[in-house]
Amino acid sequence: MVYLDNAATSFPKPPEVYDRVLSFMRESCANPGRSSHEMARASANCIMKTRESLCQLFNISNPLQIGFTPNATLALNMAIYGILKKGDHVITTALEHNSVLRPLYELKKNGVIDYTVVTPKNHFGTIETQSIMRAVRTNTKLIVVTASSNVIGAILPYGEIGDAAKRKGITYLVDASQGAGVLDFDVQSMQISMLAFPGHKGLLGPQGTGGLYLDESISLRPIIQGGTGSRSFETVQPLFMPDIIESGTLNTPGIAGLGAGVEFILKTGTRNILKKKEFLLERLYERLAGNKKIRLFSRIGPNQNCGILALLINGMDSSEAANLLDSRYHIAVRPGFHCAPLAHKFLKTEKTGLVRISLGYFNTSDEIQYTADSLLEIAEGSPA
Ligand SMILES: Cc1ncc(COP(=O)(O)O)c(C=O)c1O
Repeated sequence: MVYLDNAATSFPKPPEVYDRVLSFMRESCANPGRSSHEMARASANCIMKTRESLCQLFNISNPLQIGFTPNATLALNMAIYGILKKGDHVITTALEHNSVLRPLYELKKNGVIDYTVVTPKNHFGTIETQSIMRAVRTNTKLIVVTASSNVIGAILPYGEIGDAAKRKGITYLVDASQGAGVLDFDVQSMQISMLAFPGHKGLLGPQGTGGLYLDESISLRPIIQGGTGSRSFETVQPLFMPDIIESGTLNTPGIAGLGAGVEFILKTGTRNILKKKEFLLERLYERLAGNKKIRLFSRIGPNQNCGILALLINGMDSSEAANLLDSRYHIAVRPGFHCAPLAHKFLKTEKTGLVRISLGYFNTSDEIQYTADSLLEIAEGSPA
């Protein structure tokens, strides 16, 4: 199978990730932070090691400011529900995922908040910092943006927005679901107040991993209450990090594997990972660009796209094209709407969806060549 669905979850993982999960489960998989026996200490050390690697990757100074979650969705929900109060205003973009949009819709429906959605300047998904800042009101509490579109791959100016938000005293949440492990994130110089990330996409860890970083100035209301291994006699959830986020037993084997994924990224370098994806993306784009039956929706170029080419084949629903790629050519891509309804409305693809080809660090030029040939063959057989 040629796997080109890395924006959903990355595959394959570096061999170290599989090895780490297995050896950890075999040797020291106790419950971290609950007991003080040797195996529990080994588990806690392993969790701490992953926190420290993430600190290095995102330039976080205190590892305890990272809380682990099972995915980016829960991290985003914790951040959004935890920070907003009645009367607050939020600014977001039309490129967001439903894990940002649905909490905002619900809070608005219940009369808690109001929000402004900033639409891109063009069909390549360009969002400018000025457009975000023009939407600021006196009661704007939160700006939440995705680092990069999960539909067309466009990279947003997420580093620049942080500075502008800081000057206005607005809390800044970045959804790093598409970008963590590929793009640079420096929470300090980019003034990021909260960073939500999945562990199972660009960070190359197992599914069931993710996390939320909080700047020390941020205090959240917990949305989940439970056992933390700390302050057991208190009737309320501890409000300190990471316990406020980490209720219940962690996915310790997953977090061990995530640690190996992040170490691989630190060793390889995000710049090299992005460059490799850009190289492959350009090859694919060049092969398809001249074909009149294929419509390309993504902009390609240095630092423009985190590794996605979205397209439609003349007269074909995206699912039909993806099914052909799967059944006839054994190529895995994702059709449909990618949980990003506003992006598809903006692109006017609410009826057909888009075929999303999302690259990973381990894809090869041969795979890209084969994918381009297969798409051209499908296009050849499509209606005139
Ligand atoms: C931009 C974006 N945000 C959030 C998510 C949700 O991530 P998870 O599946 O880890 O909850 C995704 C997943 O595709 C995404 O692409």
